Amino acid sequence: MRVLLAGATGYIGQAVLRELAEHGHDIVALVRPGRAVSDDVTGPIAVIEVEITPHADWTLDLPETDAVISCLASRSGAPDDARHVEFEANRSLLEYAERVDAQHFVLLSAICVQIPRLAFQREKLRFEALLEASKVPATIVRATAFFRSLVGQFERVRAGKPFLLFSSGNTTACKPISDRDLAAFIVQKLTAPPEGTQVLPIGGPGPALTPQEQGRLLCETVGQPFQTTSLPPEMFDWIRWLISPLALFSRRIRDRVEFLRIAKFYATESMLCWDEALQRYDAQGTPEFGEDTLAGFYAKLHAGEVSMPERGEHSLF
Ligand SMILES: NC(=O)c1ccc[n+]([C@@H]2O[C@H](COP(=O)([O-])OP(=O)(O)OC[C@H]3O[C@@H](n4cnc5c(N)ncnc54)[C@H](OP(=O)(O)O)[C@@H]3O)[C@@H](O)[C@H]2O)c1
Repeated sequence: MRVLLAGATGYIGQAVLRELAEHGHDIVALVRPGRAVSDDVTGPIAVIEVEITPHADWTLDLPETDAVISCLASRSGAPDDARHVEFEANRSLLEYAERVDAQHFVLLSAICVQIPRLAFQREKLRFEALLEASKVPATIVRATAFFRSLVGQFERVRAGKPFLLFSSGNTTACKPISDRDLAAFIVQKLTAPPEGTQVLPIGGPGPALTPQEQGRLLCETVGQPFQTTSLPPEMFDWIRWLISPLALFSRRIRDRVEFLRIAKFYATESMLCWDEALQRYDAQGTPEFGEDTLAGFYAKLHAGEVSMPERGEHSLF
């Protein structure tokens, strides 16, 4: 299958590129001007450097493909960037998919859009609605937390410092998924387009882990005693209220305010399916996929068998 992959330089995009190549797909990878895909992936890959704009003309020279995968994501989550990437760039990709009559559009989304409070979540949902309305068959993959998001305290814990928790560290949970397993899930779904649009929440192999459990696992792995420091998630609100007046005059501060909202969200919400009837997160009901466990990943990091994933702008610690 000839596949257009957008976001091929991202954390999940790189894994999807590798998985597509391993499955023998013919790949057209879109990257921003000056960017390149990992040089350790081999196969029929055409890399096209392009600025994805809201205008359709940038797609005119693209070769026709059978399917489109979007792993695009705003790197900052700032409102303007989120609109530009999560909505407008994806809309351009969809217009391309409609023009070439693509058999399938696969969108990497996030499970957190179930409770949309943040700019980037609302932009993702706006685009998901376009996909629903399109004639192109679509799969929306709403993933839970990536391993990358759960390694930020690795060095501090290894150095003997306490693991930082919000509140008790027991009020949220997720089913961490590796980049490799998520990529395998995406590529598996690619070749089986649905009739219309399907939304697939997905986590890694269970059980769901709370931050307490993640911290305990990390300390055990690096051979440190399990000690914690608890922080109030409200601290993000306090800082936000303090700097909010300045946001009237500065876009940088407005973006910082949004970052604080994002941080509060992840400190207080689980990355699991939300049960609307029971008004709670449902660990049991959150589908699982793959074999890579967070414990195994921590062990490989500690042994130096894998390198620390590049941390995004969303990183807190
Ligand atoms: N972190 C988590 O735990 C988690 C959990 C569930 C779901 N998700 C979702 O998973 C998705 C992807 O995450 P990720 O970690 O793979 O993202 P990422 O590493 O930040 O990669 C983002 C990709 O989008 C590209 N991109 C960003 N801005 C662009 C622009 N203006 N024009 C063209 N390309 C642009 C980046 O290109 P450059 O390399 O050139 O910047 C990169 O290829 C996001 O939708 C996220 O919300 C994340």
